[in-house]
Amino acid sequence: MKVLVTGATGYIGSHTVVELLDNNYEVVGLDNFSNSKREVVDKIKEITHKDFKFYECDMLNKEALENIFKENEIDAVIDFAAFKAVGESVSKPVEYYINNVSSILTLLSVMKEFNVKKIVFSSSATVYGKPKSVPITEDAEVGGTTNPYGTSKLMVERILKDLYVSDETMDICILRYFNPIGAHSSGLIGEEPNGIPANLMPYIVKVASGKLECLNVFGNDYNTKDGTGVRDYIHVVDLAVGHVKALEKLNKEKQGLFIYNLGTGKGYSVLEIINTFEKVNNVKVNYKIAPRRPGDIDECYSDPSKALKELGFKCEKTLEDMVRDSWNYENK
Ligand code: WQD
Repeated sequence: MKVLVTGATGYIGSHTVVELLDNNYEVVGLDNFSNSKREVVDKIKEITHKDFKFYECDMLNKEALENIFKENEIDAVIDFAAFKAVGESVSKPVEYYINNVSSILTLLSVMKEFNVKKIVFSSSATVYGKPKSVPITEDAEVGGTTNPYGTSKLMVERILKDLYVSDETMDICILRYFNPIGAHSSGLIGEEPNGIPANLMPYIVKVASGKLECLNVFGNDYNTKDGTGVRDYIHVVDLAVGHVKALEKLNKEKQGLFIYNLGTGKGYSVLEIINTFEKVNNVKVNYKIAPRRPGDIDECYSDPSKALKELGFKCEKTLEDMVRDSWNYENK
């Protein structure tokens, strides 16, 4: 089975390409390197000892996309290509909607041209906005997103649902990620955000390595176990496995629209993450309590039972694996 992976050199995309190659899928990768590096292609080949076709391509370039579909018999697409910095999306809404929404519209129109029916879409728990209750199930209300990044994900989910209503021969899987962290155990690929990291784990890693001075813990007066924000952290390798399981589901079902949370179902607070990181890696993380970050919510974690029941997907990695692999990547 030949799978087109968009955003193939990105954080989640690269780990998923490794998992696909390890599971003997044929992969065609594309990326425009707007938030990743070309060297990741070679790192993936080094990890898997396998080759795969790669195109430098912007998804907004319809002709280039058509050419890829002309040159390769694509059976399914996994779409990761998107900007994903929540804070940045507030200051650059138009860029986010062009990149995250227009690009998939181009992709879907080319898929239709070449009669490609299967797509796995990289969505996010942010589509739930401020959840009314936790743990969050897939039938929880979506909407009330607090930033253009989350809203762009909600928009694409809406587009995919409308597409399915118009053509029930489509085979669509929407995966809502919680908080991906960690890195491949080889230390060759991992999370490499441009500039100052917005997310917790990459920031912790930079403070532990001395590249950044001190971590600001955004608020310790939340209604949580220790007052700091609680999130459902999922190892990026587990997340990659979830995508292979989603492809297997689309192969089995032949048509349908399926939505799954990908998370561990466990919530950890910021302080728990810091303490576990320090204990496992035997390093110190300087931090101080700072004011809340606008738009943050108290706690958000998944009910992962539907993915277990319907995909046979269950996270294997522990929090210790996540903090160890994040640190290992930084040191490699
Ligand atoms: C986690 C916790 C912060 C940084 C976002 C997106 C989500 C996904 C992951 C793309 C919160 C606290 C953070 C810091 C801190 N992105 N924190 N100091 O906001 O849960 O989710 O990123 O797929 O879609 O919404 O992740 O890592 O930014 O924050 O105290 O310097 O860490 O308040 O409680 P978030 P995060």
